[in-house]
Amino acid sequence: MILAIANQKGGVGKTTTAINLAAALASKGLRTLLVDLDPQANSSMSFLDIHALTHSIYDVLADGSIPLADIIRLAEKVPNLAIAPSSIALAKIESKLLGEIDSHFRLKDALDRVQADYDFVVLDTPPTLGIITVNALVASSHVLIPIQSSYFALEGTDDLLETIDKIKQRANPALQILGAVITLHDKRTLLSRDIVDQIQRVFGEKLFETMITKSVRLEESPAYKESIFTFAPRSSGAYEYYKLSEEVLSRV
Ligand SMILES: Nc1ncnc2c1ncn2[C@@H]1O[C@H](COP(=O)(O)OP(=O)(O)OP(=O)(O)O)[C@@H](O)[C@H]1O
Ligand SMILES: [Mg+2]
Repeated sequence: MILAIANQKGGVGKTTTAINLAAALASKGLRTLLVDLDPQANSSMSFLDIHALTHSIYDVLADGSIPLADIIRLAEKVPNLAIAPSSIALAKIESKLLGEIDSHFRLKDALDRVQADYDFVVLDTPPTLGIITVNALVASSHVLIPIQSSYFALEGTDDLLETIDKIKQRANPALQILGAVITLHDKRTLLSRDIVDQIQRVFGEKLFETMITKSVRLEESPAYKESIFTFAPRSSGAYEYYKLSEEVLSRV
């Protein structure tokens, strides 16, 4: 099971979802690998001291000189969770892979060699539909789309769904949309009820029942290198991400 968390819109909760979903799955005893594919390296920093590392996913994807297994580190505070860290170098992968015939398959090839060691692989992707996100979608069995509960929530969704369709046509026919999850939800506003209705119309039964509401605790936990489950186990965020993990498992 390889799950890409994707939406080319920035700041919609991809990383927050990737780290807390991965931690929830690991807490259930599933051997989980979180692959950070964003040059901002936010999900790596949430679990590791990345300044202590010499290699990142960039080295794996750029020339294959370093096997994926060599960059994977265990999360310091979460049993069963391993991280393949990113680095700012990943920002230059686009030009590096230009014209390479296997450029869309680099991640898939790398994951093929470690996949047997994990029950669940979660991919955190950058806010673009460029070569990194395409690599993620080519390598994945499923994709989960976080949608921010905001007035412009659905802008850009067409492009994302079109990209997924294109990848299904040739490179990865098995790719499935696992679901969409509403994030940064604010129950108190009337507008958010409207927005949920709109999102519901687009995604229908693919929309997860669980919604992730706005919570300061979710924002704070990465700074302490903790998932929401150890940082604030009784918070709404912990409850909601746990429920999301149950829904995810019920769909696979
Ligand atoms: N449910 C939430 N409640 C409060 N803050 C949140 C919530 N989810 C995410 N955030 C905060 O919103 C910001 C954007 O979230 P996040 O980094 O997860 O989005 P992203 O889609 O990964 O962004 P990018 O596109 O830049 O990679 C972060 O500061 C994060 O801490
Ligand atoms: Mg992110």
